[in-house]
Amino acid sequence: MHVKIPVSQLEPGMVLAEDVLRPGGALVAARGTVIAKRHAGLFRLHQVASVLVEPTGGRAGQEPEAPLDPLVLEAARDHLRSRFLFAGIKHPALAELFRLCQPRVARAMVRKKTAFPDPPAPLLPADDQDDETGPLPSPEEIAAADPALVSLPDVFARICEVLNSPVSTASDAARVIGMDQSLAAKLLRLVNSAFYGFPTKVDTLSRAVTIVGSRQLTTLALGISVVSLFRDLPPGLVEVKAVWKHSVACGLAASALAGCAACGRDGMERLFVAGLLHDVGRLVLYRNLPRPSGRALWLARRKNMLLCLAERQVFGFDHATLGGVLLSGWRFPENLIRAVRSHHGPGRPAWTVEPAVVHVADLVVNAMRMGSSGEIFVPPLVPEAFATLGVAPGALGEAMARVDEQVESVLAVFLPDDA
Ligand SMILES: [Fe+2]
Ligand SMILES: [Fe+2]
Repeated sequence: MHVKIPVSQLEPGMVLAEDVLRPGGALVAARGTVIAKRHAGLFRLHQVASVLVEPTGGRAGQEPEAPLDPLVLEAARDHLRSRFLFAGIKHPALAELFRLCQPRVARAMVRKKTAFPDPPAPLLPADDQDDETGPLPSPEEIAAADPALVSLPDVFARICEVLNSPVSTASDAARVIGMDQSLAAKLLRLVNSAFYGFPTKVDTLSRAVTIVGSRQLTTLALGISVVSLFRDLPPGLVEVKAVWKHSVACGLAASALAGCAACGRDGMERLFVAGLLHDVGRLVLYRNLPRPSGRALWLARRKNMLLCLAERQVFGFDHATLGGVLLSGWRFPENLIRAVRSHHGPGRPAWTVEPAVVHVADLVVNAMRMGSSGEIFVPPLVPEAFATLGVAPGALGEAMARVDEQVESVLAVFLPDDA
């Protein structure tokens, strides 16, 4: 008997029992194909929700995972309770996340032989954090005082122009991106990564524009350009690679959720970039104001509070507000500005799709401990944001699967030195 399984449960080594066709009828993968990591992304891209696989447990040459010791599962639950301290598990989406994370944490405990599988990075000594007084700059002053943030590379402004213009064409997009060789090379690496999982290599920019779409490609180019601005952080705060891992993971989770929500044609790329940049304000705080940032991190750990609240206490604003100011100054499209500025809560007016998706994606990757931008807790879920997505809690498992599958290969595009 063949087995029909959702794409999220596909695993390398499974064998397709029938051709996989996209909704229009074109062949995506033939019967007999041995599933590799890239296939799940490919199927999602073509809106394939489930596939038929051969029996034998569905896996060729792989042992099923050993059952977990109930005592380890219990230790994992205790560990997760502290991670979910502020989020709780009352909301069905949080209960689902907690359930999904428990075996992950238990396996990490077994693998790392410790009851503390993901300790946060050490901070500077506490007594070094209390001796700074005096007014700190506002978000606008921070953005205006840093020449690297004010005068961005020329190509960056042109990409924004193409994105903001309703009359720009595919050749405009290819021309602007082609002005920067390193940007074009990174973009092609991203197009050829597991992010899309295309079966054949895309080797020119014009072909990438044709296959992916000019708007989609230009949006991705914008994200790549910003990442290249932040390579290092002062010591003693948070590892820059951990921040980008959190950000790439958030982008992947957001784009997985984009398939479910009403996000439009370029939703997958737009939400990926929104997730990628959602904590960019934190990077600027760490880089430009390291001592007060250290104080905020220390305060959050010492007083057991959410980092967002500690930031507001130290700076008078949080990283989301600063991120919104930065993106406005760079003339980003309005929906990306809103996604970054409001991912911890929009105030008034109420939630819209982009901030709501990023809010939920951030929660997912914080629960997974996929990198970190400094927060050690799962942030609380705003039920209205989850309702805005219009998905069932089961969609969170799909988002986690996408992150697990793609995070390393996509991160390697953004941080090639660490690949
Ligand atoms: Fe955030
Ligand atoms: Fe975040």
